[in-house]
Amino acid sequence: MGTILVTGSLGQIGTELVPLLVKKFGPSRVIASDVKPPDSDVFHDIEYITMDVTDREMVASTMKDRSITDVFHMAGILSALGERNPELAFMVNSVGTFNVLNSAVKAGVNRVMIPSTIGVFGKDTPRDNVPVVTVTRPATMYGVTKVNAELLASYFRNKFGLDVRGVRYPGIVSYKTPPSAGTTDYAVDMYYHAVAGKSYECYLKEDAALPMMYMPDALDSLMKLYSADGEKLRYTIEYNISAFSFDPATLASAIRRVIPEFRVTYRPDYRQSIAETWPRSLDSTDAKIDWGFSPAYDIDAMTEDMIENLKEMHVRNQPGL
Ligand SMILES: NC(=O)c1ccc[n+]([C@@H]2O[C@H](COP(=O)([O-])OP(=O)(O)OC[C@H]3O[C@@H](n4cnc5c(N)ncnc54)[C@H](O)[C@@H]3O)[C@@H](O)[C@H]2O)c1
Repeated sequence: MGTILVTGSLGQIGTELVPLLVKKFGPSRVIASDVKPPDSDVFHDIEYITMDVTDREMVASTMKDRSITDVFHMAGILSALGERNPELAFMVNSVGTFNVLNSAVKAGVNRVMIPSTIGVFGKDTPRDNVPVVTVTRPATMYGVTKVNAELLASYFRNKFGLDVRGVRYPGIVSYKTPPSAGTTDYAVDMYYHAVAGKSYECYLKEDAALPMMYMPDALDSLMKLYSADGEKLRYTIEYNISAFSFDPATLASAIRRVIPEFRVTYRPDYRQSIAETWPRSLDSTDAKIDWGFSPAYDIDAMTEDMIENLKEMHVRNQPGL
């Protein structure tokens, strides 16, 4: 066992993944990186490097010079930001992923983990219970770059024998680091508003159902796949996983079971048209069969946990308390 490099460590997933890897493998085995310098209150006990995944030389020299054996490639530009800046999405998601895979082969890296997304689907994909192998003709630049990443991952596995693994994440709900600019961010925003005693104006329609998952299950799934028997894996980074599906009205009702006065209004914007090209639900059977995917949280368990933790953070952040 050697050293694990995490790209995009300061993101919604990276900030929770890095401490998990440190706990599991020890601080000397994990190097965190991101294009930004670290916030003052994260990652004290491990090495941190500022690394832009679009910088081919830097990615290559980092992997080689530090004898990296495993990479968790979490750097990315998500759907809503990608629509505002398609060139950036292409550079980070497509070119950056190529740089990571290409450098990994050259540096003799053992395993690369790369999340894909439900953003690879498009309006020609069936809307319900979508299987792994289906039509992937997305309408967004995010989707285009993520289909490209899926194809690159399979190419590098088949051509060079690189062990590349990953899942198509649905929308991920979490309380530690706010999501950056995805289409499913409304779910996290709703909890923040509800706990702060505010009403919420939702940018998706009340019946815009999408597949979703709570962060502990997202991390647990990634780690299960990471340590799965490679012989049993039929896919590269295309494993569909989803814990449940809900629309904004259903989430609002779940929150009202804990905070009855919470109110939501709806004013759909451009993100509604992105959501309309994505499936309502996924078939995660292949992930269950091949590596034991089994989410623990349903929408009510997630809601209780989110509200409890956000209330605690709210109290901690009140001056004088
Ligand atoms: N969060 C979700 O709901 C979700 C759903 C599906 C898939 N995913 C996938 O999971 C991965 C991580 O997502 P996230 O939610 O943590 O995203 P995020 O936007 O919260 O974090 C991404 C991180 O990448 C960093 N980054 C951007 N450009 C970079 C560059 N050029 N070089 C290095 N780092 C750079 C950003 O600074 C940020 O810290 C992405 O590949 C994303 O497509 C996330």
